[in-house]
Amino acid sequence: MTVDPKIIVALDFPSADAAFHLANVLDPAQCRVKVGKELFTRAGPVLVEQLQQLGFDVFLDLKYHDIPNTTAQACRAAAELGVWMVNVHALGGRRMMEAAREAIDKAAHRPLLIAVTILTSLDADELHEVGLSGNPEDNVLRLACLAESAGLDGVVCSPREVVALREAVADNFRLVTPGVRPAGGVAGDQKRITTPEDAIRLGSSYLVVGRPVTQAEDPLAALADINAVIDIKQVR
Ligand code: C5P
Repeated sequence: MTVDPKIIVALDFPSADAAFHLANVLDPAQCRVKVGKELFTRAGPVLVEQLQQLGFDVFLDLKYHDIPNTTAQACRAAAELGVWMVNVHALGGRRMMEAAREAIDKAAHRPLLIAVTILTSLDADELHEVGLSGNPEDNVLRLACLAESAGLDGVVCSPREVVALREAVADNFRLVTPGVRPAGGVAGDQKRITTPEDAIRLGSSYLVVGRPVTQAEDPLAALADINAVIDIKQVR
């Protein structure tokens, strides 16, 4: 029996030291960790390897978006690094996503491959400006279905999108949801938030949680509180 933590703690730190300071007090049985563009650009693959040596599954959140061959090679490199999850932009198109999937399918260790659909920072006017018609929700749904048909394992989506997506995709298609705040928590710059228990109840597979854990006085206790309210058997 393997532990399958639902919480992915976003290590949004400017240095490896700061990331390790937190990682050393967290428990890999209670969470995974996410390494994004800032931390990876500063600290690189060595940091990812060190986090894995501490026992953490790493979501490498670099959102690859390039021609199929380049994206596939980047995903292959991520697989060889041993990460648990890696992502690409669905707007790179079917051939790019299929090439990425084929590259990791061949790897000895296969990470989960998920897609970003529409960046939640874009509103309808900005979408139209880049030539995408329809509202953001329609675009999210269309791109998620495209990602699923290209053989990807899931998408990143906002809590607001989970219900519609759950109706459109297979049960085992992972929905990875940021914008999660424990009841009474500080929203910060997040506009569309949901509680961890609601996100899971609505159909999220994994929750990306940053500041509610990283800025907590006792991060391990904050994490334990979230896991307690999710109240599901975190085993696979
Ligand atoms: O601190 P907070 O819980 O808001 O952190 C959320 C994390 O999820 C950050 O790493 C942020 O970049 C990421 N994220 C997000 N909204 C998206 C996509 C990713 O907040 N739509």
